[in-house]
Amino acid sequence: MTVSTISIDSAFFRQAFSELAQIGRDPSGRGYQRLAWSEAEREAHRWFRDRAGQLGLEVFTDAAGNSFAELASPESGPALAIGSHLDTVPFGGAYDGGYGVVGALAAAEAIQRSGLKLSRPLRVCAFTDEEGPRFGTGLLGSKALAGALDMDLVRRAQDREGTPLKDAMARFGLDLEDLPSAARVRPTFLGYLELHIEQGPRLEQSHIRTAAVTAITGIRQVSLHFVGKTNHAGTTPKPDRRNALRAAAETIARFSPWVDAQEELVANPGQITVHPNAANVVPGEVRLDWDVRSPDPNRLQAAVEYLITVAEDVSRPFHISVDSQIFHDVPPCPMHPDWIELVASAAERLNLSCDRLVSWAGHDAGVLGRVMPAAMIFIPSRAGVSHAPEEYSTDEAMLDGVRLLAQTAADLLTREAES
Ligand code: GLV
Ligand code: MN
Ligand code: MN
Repeated sequence: MTVSTISIDSAFFRQAFSELAQIGRDPSGRGYQRLAWSEAEREAHRWFRDRAGQLGLEVFTDAAGNSFAELASPESGPALAIGSHLDTVPFGGAYDGGYGVVGALAAAEAIQRSGLKLSRPLRVCAFTDEEGPRFGTGLLGSKALAGALDMDLVRRAQDREGTPLKDAMARFGLDLEDLPSAARVRPTFLGYLELHIEQGPRLEQSHIRTAAVTAITGIRQVSLHFVGKTNHAGTTPKPDRRNALRAAAETIARFSPWVDAQEELVANPGQITVHPNAANVVPGEVRLDWDVRSPDPNRLQAAVEYLITVAEDVSRPFHISVDSQIFHDVPPCPMHPDWIELVASAAERLNLSCDRLVSWAGHDAGVLGRVMPAAMIFIPSRAGVSHAPEEYSTDEAMLDGVRLLAQTAADLLTREAES
């Protein structure tokens, strides 16, 4: 293994991170609103391309609205991809996704300045709509690149205001029907390395500075649609009440303790839409969206089946019908064993303690890892908080992660030169 010295420009990293952190701040001060295909998310992509262009990287986009910036090499061949996403959940934090993109830019800047002879191009990626809460189309950018998009689901996708995804993309000059043309795994990608905050408490609690991710959880998001009968809240006789909200609530109350008793399984009732949504009306219709996760595909399958059974069982006495639809489905994905070792070995040479963790958050690496070698680096999150405005990692921790990313990337590029 070639020993290289990569020094990160911490001022560049801090400056770029604070520039991105200006984009999409909620005016109420409650975090970030860079939802997919919003003005703010697209502005973040423009910012990324400008910043990368200033470094002299070659900048381009694809049909899914992903942005790329390439550091050329004397030899052509598949590029090593590094990066993350620029969108946030509603009222999200500044670090989830944004840190990985800025960290990748800082790593590219350092590798460029190091004078290392690259045997392969290095491609910094900023993916579109990793999070998914607006259209239910999470991991859209990486799925498009991996050729793994379900076009029927994407064609039907609309946000809560009824805006079709197609129209939201068209506002930025992109045609939804062109999404399949973004697929370009081989021969253009060597593999993918993603730097991210942990988003959980394990590294902070164990005082370990970094982690190599071993596997990324599987995720299924399920929409339950309860239909009862809208009626007057005061006059409807008790036996005639077909309250869809009550059935949804009883589903939550019965399924959640069962999940609590299971190993390697989490489930979150995260979004509810009640119709007509007034205190003096028996609600006739409810949509309740669940997020169910496990790194074990069998547990995931069994849990989703049981959730639907519970919803049907609790609805029957109220004469409420239930339909279910899985609108987001990502199988669990192990990271590449050799690449996990590369991260661990780079950490050792940098004197950074390095744990091995399963990721309970979804990531673009979980999609790309099915079609190319992939690995992830985690750094500690303060109090394990994420998808919330309080999300925070120290500058020191962030710079540790960037050094580890840059070193692992440099090792991979050098290794390819030698092979
Ligand atoms: C994305 O952050 C997810 O885990 O849902
Ligand atoms: Mn993320
Ligand atoms: Mn996230």
